[in-house]
Amino acid sequence: MPPSRLKGCMPITNTKTKAEIRQQFRANCKQIPAEYREGAGREAAKLLVKQPFFKASHRVACYLSTANEFDSIPIIEAIWQAKKQCYVPVLTGENEKALHFARYQYGDALHLNRYAILEPTGNSHKLSPESLDLVLLPLIAFDCYGHRLGSGGGYYDRTFAFLHANPTPKPWMIGLGFTSQQIDALPKDPWDIRLDGVITEKEFITCS
Ligand SMILES: Nc1ncnc2c1ncn2[C@@H]1O[C@H](COP(=O)(O)OP(=O)(O)OP(=O)(O)O)[C@@H](O)[C@H]1O
Ligand SMILES: [Mg+2]
Repeated sequence: MPPSRLKGCMPITNTKTKAEIRQQFRANCKQIPAEYREGAGREAAKLLVKQPFFKASHRVACYLSTANEFDSIPIIEAIWQAKKQCYVPVLTGENEKALHFARYQYGDALHLNRYAILEPTGNSHKLSPESLDLVLLPLIAFDCYGHRLGSGGGYYDRTFAFLHANPTPKPWMIGLGFTSQQIDALPKDPWDIRLDGVITEKEFITCS
């Protein structure tokens, strides 16, 4: 089980800004060959299903990956195969910049939202973020202290801001990323939500 969010040690300071790191790691990620991406998603799915926090979860959220993100399709298939309920993020209203979670079942129709990210079409069942057991998040970079660099919209930070006030054990927050997306230490802002762990194509990393 991932450690409590109350734990954590002070990372060394990184002198680069989030924007600089984002630019560098986005460029690196684009260079990863398609065959490696496909294999990475499958390896991560094998690692995920072995984790006690996955076995204990029923409502599992996972993003629908875009071309340069860590491939989440094998992960979603593993969630279905394990007979768990799979939820995917959908945008809330234009001005809210937060996420809802919509049930995604095999064969459900999808459409592209305003950021060209796939979302279920129609009236699939929606769940509040507090009701999820486990969230698998996309990332651009991460460190072993649980700091996550996302796309810069603050969507996950806003949606899961309740974790700051009430560090409940759930939902477990687990990033999905390539080993090459790990950095010694990321800059941290007060609004950043913390990861409990990261699954890469090679290992499960527990964040301290
Ligand atoms: N809880 C919050 N309430 C209001 N604004 C927030 C909140 N969390 C983040 N933000 C805003 O979101 C912006 C982007 O934050 P940040 O750079 O941490 O994004 P990110 O974590 O990389 O993005 P994402 O979660 O979408 O992948 C910040 O300018 C911040 O002001
Ligand atoms: Mg953030």
